[in-house]
Amino acid sequence: MAPISGMSFEATETDGLPAALMLRAAATSSFGMTLADARQPDHPLLYANDAFTAMTGYDAREVVGQNCRFLQGPETDPESVAKIRQTLKSGVASTVLLLNYRKDGSRFWNRFQLSPVNDDAGKLCAYLGMQVDITEEIDRIGMENERQKLETLGRVAGGVAHELNNALQPILLYAELLADEDARNPAMLNQCSKGIFENARFASDVVNQVLSFARRDSSSNLVYDARTIIGEAVDFAAEYLPSSIVFDRQGFEPGGPLDGKQIKINRTGLLQVMTNLFKNAADATRDKGRIVVTLWLSGDPAARSGHSDDPQNYVVISIADNGHGIESKTLKHIFEPFYTTKAPGEGTGLGLSTIYGIVERWGGRIAAHSTPGKGTTFRVLVPITSNA
Ligand SMILES: Cc1cc2nc3c(=O)[nH]c(=O)nc-3n(C[C@H](O)[C@H](O)[C@H](O)COP(=O)(O)O)c2cc1C
Repeated sequence: MAPISGMSFEATETDGLPAALMLRAAATSSFGMTLADARQPDHPLLYANDAFTAMTGYDAREVVGQNCRFLQGPETDPESVAKIRQTLKSGVASTVLLLNYRKDGSRFWNRFQLSPVNDDAGKLCAYLGMQVDITEEIDRIGMENERQKLETLGRVAGGVAHELNNALQPILLYAELLADEDARNPAMLNQCSKGIFENARFASDVVNQVLSFARRDSSSNLVYDARTIIGEAVDFAAEYLPSSIVFDRQGFEPGGPLDGKQIKINRTGLLQVMTNLFKNAADATRDKGRIVVTLWLSGDPAARSGHSDDPQNYVVISIADNGHGIESKTLKHIFEPFYTTKAPGEGTGLGLSTIYGIVERWGGRIAAHSTPGKGTTFRVLVPITSNA
Protein backbone atom coordinates (compact mmCIF):
# COMPACT_ATOMS: atom_id res chain seq x y z
CA MET A 1 0.00 0.00 0.00
CA ALA A 2 1.25 3.53 -0.69
CA PRO A 3 2.64 5.35 2.32
CA ILE A 4 0.50 7.65 4.40
CA SER A 5 2.99 10.04 5.83
CA GLY A 6 2.42 13.00 8.12
CA MET A 7 -1.18 11.97 8.55
CA SER A 8 -2.49 13.26 11.84
CA PHE A 9 -5.77 11.39 11.75
CA GLU A 10 -6.61 8.54 14.06
CA ALA A 11 -7.24 5.21 12.33
CA THR A 12 -10.13 4.21 14.60
CA GLU A 13 -13.48 2.52 14.14
CA THR A 14 -15.89 4.70 12.17
CA ASP A 15 -19.58 3.81 12.30
CA GLY A 16 -18.65 0.21 13.02
CA LEU A 17 -16.26 0.00 10.03
CA PRO A 18 -12.60 -0.40 10.90
CA ALA A 19 -10.70 2.49 9.36
CA ALA A 20 -8.00 0.02 8.27
CA LEU A 21 -10.60 -1.73 6.11
CA MET A 22 -11.61 1.56 4.52
CA LEU A 23 -7.97 2.30 3.78
CA ARG A 24 -7.58 -1.12 2.16
CA ALA A 25 -10.67 -0.45 0.07
CA ALA A 26 -9.14 2.86 -1.08
CA ALA A 27 -5.86 1.11 -1.84
CA THR A 28 -7.51 -1.47 -4.08
CA SER A 29 -9.96 0.92 -5.75
CA SER A 30 -9.74 1.06 -9.53
CA PHE A 31 -10.16 4.86 -9.31
CA GLY A 32 -7.14 6.93 -8.53
CA MET A 33 -7.46 8.19 -4.96
CA THR A 34 -5.41 10.92 -3.37
CA LEU A 35 -5.62 12.73 -0.08
CA ALA A 36 -4.06 16.14 0.47
CA ASP A 37 -3.46 18.00 3.71
CA ALA A 38 -5.72 21.05 3.78
CA ARG A 39 -3.97 22.43 6.85
CA GLN A 40 -0.53 22.67 5.26
CA PRO A 41 0.41 25.44 2.86
CA ASP A 42 0.14 24.32 -0.79
CA HIS A 43 -1.82 21.18 0.18
CA PRO A 44 0.83 18.45 -0.07
CA LEU A 45 -0.36 14.91 -0.83
CA LEU A 46 -0.61 12.61 2.16
CA TYR A 47 -1.62 9.55 0.22
CA ALA A 48 -1.93 8.19 -3.29
CA ASN A 49 -3.33 4.74 -4.05
CA ASP A 50 -2.03 2.14 -6.50
CA ALA A 51 -4.51 3.07 -9.24
CA PHE A 52 -3.14 6.64 -9.14
CA THR A 53 0.47 5.46 -9.43
CA ALA A 54 -0.46 3.05 -12.25
CA MET A 55 -2.29 5.86 -14.05
CA THR A 56 0.46 8.45 -13.74
CA GLY A 57 3.64 6.36 -13.72
CA TYR A 58 4.88 8.08 -10.54
CA ASP A 59 5.87 6.08 -7.52
CA ALA A 60 3.84 6.92 -4.37
CA ARG A 61 7.07 7.90 -2.59
CA GLU A 62 7.72 10.53 -5.29
CA VAL A 63 4.32 12.18 -4.96
CA VAL A 64 3.61 12.21 -1.22
CA GLY A 65 4.56 15.62 0.11
CA GLN A 66 4.09 17.24 -3.33
CA ASN A 67 1.25 19.37 -4.63
CA CYS A 68 -0.51 17.41 -7.36
CA ARG A 69 0.00 20.11 -9.98
CA PHE A 70 3.05 18.16 -11.18
CA LEU A 71 0.55 16.30 -13.41
CA GLN A 72 -0.21 19.45 -15.35
CA GLY A 73 1.57 20.62 -18.47
CA PRO A 74 1.54 23.07 -21.38
CA GLU A 75 -1.85 21.98 -22.75
CA THR A 76 -3.72 21.67 -19.47
CA ASP A 77 -6.66 24.06 -19.70
CA PRO A 78 -6.08 26.98 -17.24
CA GLU A 79 -9.86 27.35 -16.86
CA SER A 80 -10.16 23.81 -15.46
CA VAL A 81 -7.32 24.51 -13.03
CA ALA A 82 -9.10 27.73 -12.01
CA LYS A 83 -12.18 25.61 -11.27
CA ILE A 84 -10.07 23.43 -8.93
CA ARG A 85 -8.75 26.56 -7.20
CA GLN A 86 -12.35 27.70 -6.77
CA THR A 87 -13.25 24.34 -5.17
CA LEU A 88 -10.31 24.63 -2.79
CA LYS A 89 -11.52 28.10 -1.83
CA SER A 90 -15.24 27.46 -1.60
CA GLY A 91 -15.14 23.95 -0.16
CA VAL A 92 -17.83 22.84 -2.59
CA ALA A 93 -17.03 19.54 -4.33
CA SER A 94 -16.54 19.60 -8.11
CA THR A 95 -15.62 17.47 -11.09
CA VAL A 96 -13.39 18.72 -13.91
CA LEU A 97 -11.95 17.22 -17.03
CA LEU A 98 -8.21 17.82 -17.17
CA LEU A 99 -5.45 17.06 -19.60
CA ASN A 100 -2.65 15.64 -17.44
CA TYR A 101 0.83 14.30 -18.15
CA ARG A 102 2.31 11.02 -16.96
CA LYS A 103 5.86 10.72 -15.68
CA ASP A 104 7.02 9.64 -19.17
CA GLY A 105 5.48 12.82 -20.67
CA SER A 106 2.52 11.07 -22.36
CA ARG A 107 -0.85 12.78 -22.01
CA PHE A 108 -4.07 11.44 -20.54
CA TRP A 109 -7.54 12.81 -19.87
CA ASN A 110 -8.29 12.85 -16.17
CA ARG A 111 -11.87 13.08 -14.96
CA PHE A 112 -10.93 14.57 -11.62
CA GLN A 113 -13.26 14.86 -8.67
CA LEU A 114 -12.28 16.93 -5.66
CA SER A 115 -14.10 17.08 -2.34
CA PRO A 116 -13.29 18.59 1.05
CA VAL A 117 -13.03 16.37 4.14
CA ASN A 118 -13.87 17.80 7.59
CA ASP A 119 -12.64 16.60 10.99
CA ASP A 120 -14.92 15.68 13.90
CA ALA A 121 -15.24 19.36 14.83
CA GLY A 122 -16.47 20.10 11.31
CA LYS A 123 -13.25 21.90 10.40
CA LEU A 124 -11.70 21.36 6.98
CA CYS A 125 -8.66 19.10 7.36
CA ALA A 126 -8.10 17.33 4.03
CA TYR A 127 -9.09 17.13 0.39
CA LEU A 128 -10.00 13.89 -1.30
CA GLY A 129 -9.12 13.68 -5.00
CA MET A 130 -10.41 10.91 -7.27
CA GLN A 131 -8.91 10.42 -10.71
CA VAL A 132 -10.26 8.39 -13.63
CA ASP A 133 -8.35 8.03 -16.89
CA ILE A 134 -10.99 8.51 -19.60
CA THR A 135 -8.59 8.94 -22.54
CA GLU A 136 -10.08 5.99 -24.44
CA GLU A 137 -13.60 7.37 -24.02
CA ILE A 138 -12.49 10.81 -25.29
CA ASP A 139 -10.69 9.23 -28.27
CA ARG A 140 -13.82 7.25 -29.14
CA ILE A 141 -15.96 10.42 -29.00
CA GLY A 142 -13.38 12.23 -31.17
CA MET A 143 -13.40 9.42 -33.71
CA GLU A 144 -17.19 9.34 -33.76
CA ASN A 145 -17.29 13.12 -34.29
CA GLU A 146 -14.82 12.75 -37.13
CA ARG A 147 -16.89 9.94 -38.65
CA GLN A 148 -20.07 12.05 -38.42
CA LYS A 149 -18.28 15.03 -39.97
CA LEU A 150 -17.12 12.92 -42.90
CA GLU A 151 -20.59 11.45 -43.30
CA THR A 152 -22.08 14.96 -43.38
CA LEU A 153 -19.41 16.13 -45.80
CA GLY A 154 -20.20 13.18 -48.05
CA ARG A 155 -23.89 14.04 -47.91
CA VAL A 156 -23.15 17.70 -48.74
CA ALA A 157 -20.93 16.78 -51.68
CA GLY A 158 -23.48 14.26 -52.96
CA GLY A 159 -26.34 16.71 -52.47
CA VAL A 160 -24.60 19.58 -54.24
CA ALA A 161 -23.64 17.30 -57.13
CA HIS A 162 -27.21 15.98 -57.40
CA GLU A 163 -28.86 19.41 -57.30
CA LEU A 164 -26.40 20.96 -59.75
CA ASN A 165 -26.85 18.02 -62.09
CA ASN A 166 -30.61 18.47 -61.92
CA ALA A 167 -30.17 22.08 -63.01
CA LEU A 168 -27.51 21.37 -65.66
CA GLN A 169 -29.44 18.67 -67.54
CA PRO A 170 -32.22 20.98 -68.77
CA ILE A 171 -29.68 23.76 -69.45
CA LEU A 172 -27.75 21.37 -71.73
CA LEU A 173 -30.97 20.31 -73.41
CA TYR A 174 -32.03 23.92 -74.08
CA ALA A 175 -28.51 24.71 -75.37
CA GLU A 176 -28.79 21.79 -77.81
CA LEU A 177 -32.18 23.06 -79.01
CA LEU A 178 -30.72 26.53 -79.53
CA ALA A 179 -27.91 25.06 -81.61
CA ASP A 180 -30.43 23.56 -84.01
CA GLU A 181 -30.91 26.37 -86.55
CA ASP A 182 -33.86 24.65 -88.27
CA ALA A 183 -35.87 24.40 -85.06
CA ARG A 184 -35.39 28.02 -84.02
CA ASN A 185 -38.55 30.11 -83.80
CA PRO A 186 -39.58 32.92 -81.41
CA ALA A 187 -41.65 30.63 -79.15
CA MET A 188 -38.84 28.10 -78.89
CA LEU A 189 -36.26 30.82 -78.22
CA ASN A 190 -38.46 32.22 -75.50
CA GLN A 191 -38.95 28.82 -73.89
CA CYS A 192 -35.21 28.04 -74.03
CA SER A 193 -34.09 31.34 -72.53
CA LYS A 194 -36.70 30.99 -69.76
CA GLY A 195 -35.65 27.41 -69.05
CA ILE A 196 -31.95 28.27 -68.99
CA PHE A 197 -32.58 31.27 -66.75
CA GLU A 198 -34.73 29.37 -64.23
CA ASN A 199 -32.38 26.41 -63.96
CA ALA A 200 -29.26 28.58 -63.73
CA ARG A 201 -30.92 30.58 -60.97
CA PHE A 202 -31.80 27.39 -59.08
CA ALA A 203 -28.16 26.22 -59.39
CA SER A 204 -26.95 29.59 -58.17
CA ASP A 205 -29.36 29.39 -55.17
CA VAL A 206 -27.96 25.98 -54.23
CA VAL A 207 -24.38 27.31 -54.40
CA ASN A 208 -25.31 30.40 -52.35
CA GLN A 209 -27.04 28.33 -49.69
CA VAL A 210 -24.06 26.01 -49.36
CA LEU A 211 -21.73 29.01 -49.15
CA SER A 212 -23.97 30.67 -46.60
CA PHE A 213 -23.89 27.49 -44.52
CA ALA A 214 -20.13 27.16 -44.74
CA ARG A 215 -19.21 30.81 -44.22
CA ARG A 216 -18.52 31.98 -40.69
CA ASP A 217 -18.58 35.67 -41.45
CA SER A 218 -20.56 37.93 -39.14
CA SER A 219 -19.32 41.23 -40.59
CA SER A 220 -22.72 42.17 -42.02
CA ASN A 221 -24.44 41.89 -38.64
CA LEU A 222 -25.97 45.17 -37.41
CA VAL A 223 -27.63 46.18 -34.16
CA TYR A 224 -31.45 46.42 -34.27
CA ASP A 225 -34.25 46.89 -31.79
CA ALA A 226 -35.23 43.27 -31.16
CA ARG A 227 -39.01 43.56 -31.15
CA THR A 228 -39.19 45.86 -34.19
CA ILE A 229 -36.92 43.84 -36.47
CA ILE A 230 -38.39 40.47 -35.48
CA GLY A 231 -41.91 41.91 -35.91
CA GLU A 232 -40.99 43.06 -39.43
CA ALA A 233 -39.52 39.69 -40.36
CA VAL A 234 -42.57 37.87 -39.01
CA ASP A 235 -44.87 40.21 -41.01
CA PHE A 236 -42.82 39.56 -44.12
CA ALA A 237 -42.82 35.78 -43.72
CA ALA A 238 -46.53 35.66 -42.78
CA GLU A 239 -47.38 37.35 -46.11
CA TYR A 240 -46.36 34.14 -47.88
CA LEU A 241 -48.51 31.86 -45.75
CA PRO A 242 -51.58 30.41 -47.44
CA SER A 243 -54.81 32.04 -46.22
CA SER A 244 -56.01 28.63 -45.00
CA ILE A 245 -53.44 28.75 -42.17
CA VAL A 246 -54.53 30.20 -38.82
CA PHE A 247 -51.71 32.48 -37.78
CA ASP A 248 -51.26 33.91 -34.32
CA ARG A 249 -48.55 35.92 -32.58
CA GLN A 250 -47.87 36.54 -28.92
CA GLY A 251 -45.43 38.66 -26.91
CA PHE A 252 -44.97 41.39 -29.53
CA GLU A 253 -46.80 44.10 -27.59
CA PRO A 254 -44.74 47.04 -26.26
CA GLY A 255 -44.40 47.53 -22.50
CA GLY A 256 -42.85 44.15 -21.71
CA PRO A 257 -39.37 42.87 -20.82
CA LEU A 258 -38.30 43.12 -24.46
CA ASP A 259 -38.55 46.93 -24.44
CA GLY A 260 -35.23 48.51 -25.46
CA LYS A 261 -33.53 45.17 -26.02
CA GLN A 262 -31.21 45.05 -29.00
CA ILE A 263 -29.86 42.19 -31.07
CA LYS A 264 -26.99 42.03 -33.56
CA ILE A 265 -28.09 40.19 -36.67
CA ASN A 266 -28.24 40.50 -40.44
CA ARG A 267 -31.66 41.45 -41.73
CA THR A 268 -31.71 39.20 -44.78
CA GLY A 269 -30.66 36.27 -42.61
CA LEU A 270 -33.55 36.91 -40.22
CA LEU A 271 -36.01 37.05 -43.15
CA GLN A 272 -34.56 33.79 -44.44
CA VAL A 273 -34.92 32.13 -41.01
CA MET A 274 -38.54 33.22 -40.61
CA THR A 275 -39.60 32.42 -44.17
CA ASN A 276 -38.07 29.00 -43.98
CA LEU A 277 -39.54 28.06 -40.59
CA PHE A 278 -42.99 29.36 -41.58
CA LYS A 279 -42.90 27.40 -44.83
CA ASN A 280 -41.91 24.20 -43.00
CA ALA A 281 -44.65 24.78 -40.40
CA ALA A 282 -47.26 25.33 -43.12
CA ASP A 283 -46.10 22.20 -45.00
CA ALA A 284 -46.29 20.18 -41.77
CA THR A 285 -49.97 21.12 -41.38
CA ARG A 286 -50.64 20.57 -45.11
CA ASP A 287 -51.59 24.25 -45.23
CA LYS A 288 -54.59 23.62 -42.96
CA GLY A 289 -53.26 24.11 -39.45
CA ARG A 290 -52.27 26.71 -36.94
CA ILE A 291 -48.95 28.49 -36.49
CA VAL A 292 -48.18 30.47 -33.35
CA VAL A 293 -45.16 32.74 -33.10
CA THR A 294 -44.24 33.73 -29.55
CA LEU A 295 -41.55 36.13 -28.45
CA TRP A 296 -40.02 36.28 -24.99
CA LEU A 297 -36.84 36.98 -23.08
CA SER A 298 -34.97 33.93 -21.77
CA GLY A 299 -34.16 35.59 -18.43
CA ASP A 300 -37.74 36.71 -17.92
CA PRO A 301 -39.10 34.88 -14.85
CA ALA A 302 -42.54 35.00 -16.40
CA ALA A 303 -41.18 33.21 -19.47
CA ARG A 304 -42.28 29.68 -20.04
CA SER A 305 -39.98 26.69 -20.23
CA GLY A 306 -37.00 26.72 -22.54
CA HIS A 307 -34.64 29.15 -20.90
CA SER A 308 -31.26 27.80 -19.98
CA ASP A 309 -28.92 28.34 -17.05
CA ASP A 310 -26.66 30.24 -19.43
CA PRO A 311 -26.23 33.73 -17.88
CA GLN A 312 -26.49 35.30 -21.35
CA ASN A 313 -29.96 36.69 -22.04
CA TYR A 314 -31.59 35.75 -25.30
CA VAL A 315 -34.62 36.84 -27.22
CA VAL A 316 -36.48 33.61 -27.85
CA ILE A 317 -38.60 33.33 -30.99
CA SER A 318 -40.75 30.24 -30.84
CA ILE A 319 -42.57 29.00 -33.96
CA ALA A 320 -45.07 26.28 -33.08
CA ASP A 321 -47.29 24.35 -35.47
CA ASN A 322 -49.92 21.69 -34.90
CA GLY A 323 -48.84 19.61 -37.88
CA HIS A 324 -47.76 16.00 -38.24
CA GLY A 325 -44.65 16.41 -36.07
CA ILE A 326 -41.24 14.83 -36.50
CA GLU A 327 -40.05 11.41 -35.26
CA SER A 328 -37.15 11.64 -32.80
CA LYS A 329 -34.79 9.69 -35.09
CA THR A 330 -35.40 12.29 -37.81
CA LEU A 331 -35.27 15.23 -35.40
CA LYS A 332 -31.62 14.43 -34.62
CA HIS A 333 -30.61 15.08 -38.22
CA ILE A 334 -32.83 17.93 -39.35
CA PHE A 335 -30.10 20.61 -39.21
CA GLU A 336 -27.70 18.55 -41.31
CA PRO A 337 -27.15 19.69 -44.90
CA PHE A 338 -29.11 17.76 -47.53
CA TYR A 339 -31.11 15.87 -44.94
CA THR A 340 -34.69 16.03 -46.17
CA THR A 341 -37.86 14.15 -45.44
CA LYS A 342 -39.58 15.70 -48.44
CA ALA A 343 -40.15 13.88 -51.70
CA PRO A 344 -37.47 14.32 -54.42
CA GLY A 345 -37.85 17.70 -56.09
CA GLU A 346 -39.84 19.17 -53.18
CA GLY A 347 -36.92 20.57 -51.26
CA THR A 348 -33.15 20.73 -51.45
CA GLY A 349 -32.67 19.68 -47.81
CA LEU A 350 -30.63 22.83 -47.32
CA GLY A 351 -33.22 25.06 -45.66
CA LEU A 352 -32.72 24.13 -42.01
CA SER A 353 -28.95 23.70 -42.27
CA THR A 354 -28.72 27.14 -43.86
CA ILE A 355 -30.71 28.81 -41.10
CA TYR A 356 -28.72 26.88 -38.49
CA GLY A 357 -25.57 28.50 -39.94
CA ILE A 358 -27.22 31.95 -39.96
CA VAL A 359 -28.33 31.73 -36.32
CA GLU A 360 -24.91 30.43 -35.26
CA ARG A 361 -23.27 33.44 -36.89
CA TRP A 362 -25.34 35.70 -34.63
CA GLY A 363 -23.99 33.78 -31.63
CA GLY A 364 -27.48 32.33 -31.24
CA ARG A 365 -28.94 28.86 -31.12
CA ILE A 366 -31.78 26.98 -32.76
CA ALA A 367 -33.49 23.88 -31.48
CA ALA A 368 -36.56 21.84 -32.37
CA HIS A 369 -38.96 19.90 -30.17
CA SER A 370 -41.66 17.72 -31.59
CA THR A 371 -44.45 15.36 -30.64
CA PRO A 372 -45.36 13.15 -33.59
CA GLY A 373 -49.00 13.66 -34.47
CA LYS A 374 -49.27 16.85 -32.41
CA GLY A 375 -46.82 19.33 -33.87
CA THR A 376 -43.37 20.85 -33.82
CA THR A 377 -41.87 23.88 -32.12
CA PHE A 378 -38.70 25.56 -33.32
CA ARG A 379 -36.97 27.93 -30.91
CA VAL A 380 -34.53 30.50 -32.19
CA LEU A 381 -32.42 32.13 -29.45
CA VAL A 382 -30.74 35.42 -30.34
CA PRO A 383 -28.30 36.95 -27.81
CA ILE A 384 -29.18 40.38 -26.41
CA THR A 385 -26.40 42.84 -27.15
CA SER A 386 -27.59 45.63 -24.86
CA ASN A 387 -29.97 46.11 -21.99
CA ALA A 388 -30.63 49.74 -22.77
C1 LIG B 1 -6.30 15.87 -3.34
C2 LIG B 1 -5.95 16.60 -4.59
C3 LIG B 1 -5.73 15.89 -5.74
C4 LIG B 1 -5.40 16.55 -6.94
N1 LIG B 1 -5.24 15.82 -8.07
C5 LIG B 1 -4.97 16.45 -9.23
C6 LIG B 1 -4.82 15.72 -10.43
O1 LIG B 1 -4.98 14.52 -10.49
N2 LIG B 1 -4.51 16.41 -11.56
C7 LIG B 1 -4.36 17.77 -11.57
O2 LIG B 1 -4.07 18.34 -12.61
N3 LIG B 1 -4.53 18.50 -10.44
C8 LIG B 1 -4.82 17.88 -9.28
N4 LIG B 1 -5.00 18.61 -8.13
C9 LIG B 1 -4.99 20.09 -8.20
C10 LIG B 1 -3.63 20.71 -7.94
O3 LIG B 1 -2.96 20.09 -6.91
C11 LIG B 1 -3.79 22.21 -7.56
O4 LIG B 1 -4.63 22.29 -6.46
C12 LIG B 1 -4.38 22.99 -8.71
O5 LIG B 1 -3.42 23.03 -9.74
C13 LIG B 1 -4.75 24.43 -8.33
O6 LIG B 1 -3.73 25.08 -7.68
P1 LIG B 1 -2.60 26.00 -8.40
O7 LIG B 1 -3.33 27.01 -9.20
O8 LIG B 1 -1.83 26.59 -7.25
O9 LIG B 1 -1.78 25.08 -9.26
C14 LIG B 1 -5.30 17.97 -6.94
C15 LIG B 1 -5.52 18.67 -5.76
C16 LIG B 1 -5.85 18.02 -4.59
C17 LIG B 1 -6.09 18.80 -3.34
